[in-house]
Amino acid sequence: MYAIESSGLTKIYNGKRRTQKITALNSLDLQIDNGIIYGLLGPNGAGKTTFVKIILGIVNPTSGSAKLLGKNITDHEVRNKIGFLPENHKFPHYLSAEEVLKYFAKLRRFDSKNINSEIEKVLDKVKLSKWKKTRIKKFSKGMLQRLGLANAIITNPEILFLDEPTDGVDPIGRKEIKDLLLELKQNGKTVFINSHLLSEVESISDRVAILNKGNLIREGKVDDLITSKKNYIISCSEFIEDNIEILRANFQFTVNENFQINLKVDSTAELNSFMDKLRQHQIIINSINQQKSSLEDYFIKAIGDSDKI
Ligand SMILES: Nc1ncnc2c1ncn2[C@@H]1O[C@H](COP(=O)(O)OP(=O)(O)O)[C@@H](O)[C@H]1O
Ligand SMILES: [Mg+2]
Repeated sequence: MYAIESSGLTKIYNGKRRTQKITALNSLDLQIDNGIIYGLLGPNGAGKTTFVKIILGIVNPTSGSAKLLGKNITDHEVRNKIGFLPENHKFPHYLSAEEVLKYFAKLRRFDSKNINSEIEKVLDKVKLSKWKKTRIKKFSKGMLQRLGLANAIITNPEILFLDEPTDGVDPIGRKEIKDLLLELKQNGKTVFINSHLLSEVESISDRVAILNKGNLIREGKVDDLITSKKNYIISCSEFIEDNIEILRANFQFTVNENFQINLKVDSTAELNSFMDKLRQHQIIINSINQQKSSLEDYFIKAIGDSDKI
């Protein structure tokens, strides 16, 4: 059973003009395992928020279906197992941190006799205990995000949806949020993050999907996506430039003044055939290092490629 599953999920919004239609999601199929951190990536307008809103029953899909923990998304029992941090959320500014949590817990009919101690616990987790009596109009964006996170996890949900959780949060705050998400994962929870901040997601997600204009353009383990394009730095002892230059017809590479070759290949077979050629010219190889391109590079390329279609 998957934590989150969508099949042919499509959303077409009506635009400003009557005839205008906006395809926010185009037949999205996703299957997300339990107990992992999953990142949904894409530029603004890709359809990330729409996906989460459909899963949470805030927006109805035009077609297709989705399940949470194997149950239909309209199932009330399953909805109680969900935590949600919306994008750009706003709490009433005149409430204190503690009051915000109490107010929303009541709205959700969160049934806990120990609500006060639950609030203490969760504020401690997001490092806001000191500020629990402070009105949130004095809070920074980072503090508000942490309060939003506290509000999302107070019910001890099985699946947590976070829409742009680190937006506007300073680096220390980001690190704290990341640590908290890893802790939730360690406790067996599933964490689903929408983000356009790739470097944030890259470092904590087990898998990612890349969405562009409602279309799924890549899906996989972060490591697999990054290594799909192979780039090697080969350090050599001195060589005669001409011996290398003739290889340009068959290989893609650059050479720097320290006799380092930066080679791009599609496969290890291609790498080996390049090494064979170097040896044929008696070139001494000192080291070979595979360079991992970051997800950022990969993402920009993937979006660029999909835009060309
Ligand atoms: N309620 C709405 N009515 C009309 N268009 C919408 C509505 N919500 C979102 N959209 C459009 O759908 C597309 C996807 O939006 P969204 O899901 O918010 O993307 P993301 O979260 O990736 O930035 C965008 O083109 C956006 O303008
Ligand atoms: Mg969004």
